[in-house]
Amino acid sequence: MSTSTLLAPKTSGSRFKVILWTSLGLITLFVFITSEVMLVTDYPMYHAYRLQVIADRHLLIPHTLSGLVALLAGPVQFSTRFRQRHLTIHRLLGRFYVLSVFIGSFTGIALAAGRPGLPGTSMQAAAWMVCTTAAFITARNRQIKVHRQWMARSYAVTFTFVSSRILNLWPAYWSHLGDVLAAVGVIAFTLASLLIVDLGLNWHELTTRRENSPAGER
Ligand code: HEM
Repeated sequence: MSTSTLLAPKTSGSRFKVILWTSLGLITLFVFITSEVMLVTDYPMYHAYRLQVIADRHLLIPHTLSGLVALLAGPVQFSTRFRQRHLTIHRLLGRFYVLSVFIGSFTGIALAAGRPGLPGTSMQAAAWMVCTTAAFITARNRQIKVHRQWMARSYAVTFTFVSSRILNLWPAYWSHLGDVLAAVGVIAFTLASLLIVDLGLNWHELTTRRENSPAGER
């Protein structure tokens, strides 16, 4: 890479990436404290769920570890600079990401088995695996632009773990978590996340009118 490229001023695209990842990181930290730390320290509102989590620990340990790998791999994998400098690590981490999504999905379905959340969790897991598989295949086919788009969709599903817990501390939200969120909310979060990502991916086309159509195109 030339010195001029290294010293080039930040483009609006890279500034957007910094703001996006900083916001996602702060939201994740907030959810980690208000959901996971408070669950571990037996916050009274979470008590019944805590007992369920303890009973499910054999599935939850591999589920959490694989989910964490997927969640933490995202910022590294999306970094253009990291990809340019460490392509081999990017590919290796990508394989770990795919494996983690599959382990996270199947353990997620097993956790929901026999509960009202099963249809929603199964749909979420299916979306997670389909987007990730499409990202993997397009990477293998060297279709890098489309690979990046499928990875953005895959990571949007990964991030529903965080987004669906932002309001956990709000008693009205938490008390409905058992039925409404478990049954249909998970599907709504998954669909909304995928739509937001697709709107973002097509932002330029949505906000810019093409002046000169190439010959033959209308
Ligand atoms: C970033 C990815 C993910 C991580 C780090 C993660 C981690 C966890 C953790 C720590 C719990 C227990 C504590 C809590 O509910 O807050 C949990 C519960 C659960 N997760 Fe995930 N998860 C992820 C994504 C997913 C996905 C995509 C699905 C759907 C396939 C899923 C399905 C479930 C289910 C069904 C439970 C309830 C467990 C129970 O009833 O005991 N998770 N997850």
